[in-house]
Amino acid sequence: MEAARPQREPALDADYDVEAVRAQFPALQQEVYDEQPLVYLDNAATTQKPQAVVDRLERYYTRENANVHRGVHVLSQQASSAYEAVRERVADFIGAPEPDRGPAHAQIVYTRGTTEAINLVAATWGRSELEAGDEVLLSRMEHHSNIVPWQRICEETGAELKVIPVTDRGELDVEALEALLSERTELVAVTHVSNTLGTINPVERITEKAHAAGAKVLVDGAQSVPHMEIDVAELGVDFFCFSGHKMYGPTGIGALYGRRKLLDAMPPYQGGGDMIDEVSFGGTTYAEVPHKFEAGTPSIADVIALGAAAAWLDDMGRERVHEHERALLRYATERAREIDDIRLIGTAREKASVLSFLLGDVHPYDAGTVLDRLGIAVRTGHHCTQPLMERLEIPGTVRASLACYNTREDIDRLAEGLEKVRTMFG
Ligand code: ALA
Repeated sequence: MEAARPQREPALDADYDVEAVRAQFPALQQEVYDEQPLVYLDNAATTQKPQAVVDRLERYYTRENANVHRGVHVLSQQASSAYEAVRERVADFIGAPEPDRGPAHAQIVYTRGTTEAINLVAATWGRSELEAGDEVLLSRMEHHSNIVPWQRICEETGAELKVIPVTDRGELDVEALEALLSERTELVAVTHVSNTLGTINPVERITEKAHAAGAKVLVDGAQSVPHMEIDVAELGVDFFCFSGHKMYGPTGIGALYGRRKLLDAMPPYQGGGDMIDEVSFGGTTYAEVPHKFEAGTPSIADVIALGAAAAWLDDMGRERVHEHERALLRYATERAREIDDIRLIGTAREKASVLSFLLGDVHPYDAGTVLDRLGIAVRTGHHCTQPLMERLEIPGTVRASLACYNTREDIDRLAEGLEKVRTMFG
């Protein structure tokens, strides 16, 4: 492993000044334990935040704080405008198409994150559309957040869950999906990128097939939004969900994109202020989309900082960032393959930013603990994908996940750390 290293220079963009990128992230400047510079490789769990996002939150709370849609006063009006302007940016960021009625951004619903977005669709569209005899197709590689809400709504409505299998290398079996599709299929719910394996699923192809069978398509975009250009119009999906905190924004904020026609037909999610048209004890009428789905005071500061994160990524140049990450993943995969006894988990032909593996008989938790003491942050365990672990017949993995600020030195530190793990447990 030591010998081959200097000859190999993966095609990292020479104009991509990763040190200048890193300098924008205060959390990356720290040392942990005994002066170990932090190597942060847990980006699929959450990304660090650039100063621009931290500053935007601070500015909001220092000078701009007010509730939205409720006040005639200047602060409330400014907060409302900033809050609604982010909706337009998000619509643009993911390529939301113009619907027949109203603007593209009315199809963006703010949620607490991907999990809540999926729960919202299950609790509204699912509860009103599904009935006994219907089927919902999910893949075996879904995160629990794209399994449990559907299990619950299927139990309630009598609809049936069907599972699209995953191949040994961690790809979704599209032929099996075709065989599962029928006139009973109401929904295909799949992840765009697997949080555990990094597999990029062929969403456009899946959507074509699902639509041909008359089914709707929901995509969990939590792990794709940070790592590739998203165009929901091109993907053709009906629902798309993502989280702010995995794309350099705050926790507790995310969004649901839904086709206007579907959103219009869906009942509200939660009841409360701001989601109504008129309330009386004789009956209540509801606001138009998207506000019909946004009861109560929302996470105003986090929405505004989500907008700052999207702007920051756009300023960076999303394609450049993604090219850097792709080259780094190639480098990480090559370096990992040089380590004795390593077993890469997930070797799909199309992958994004995730390197999952097992090291001999070492339990992932033990490997993660040793790496942590060396200042290297990875995630270990089942990654909230227990059915996938069962399919692969493993208890869990060690997962290194990459972002725009990771470097070859980070990968080298990981490789050196893994050699130490091998020595300790070998
Ligand atoms: N879903 C996140 C992960 O994969 C938390 O780590």
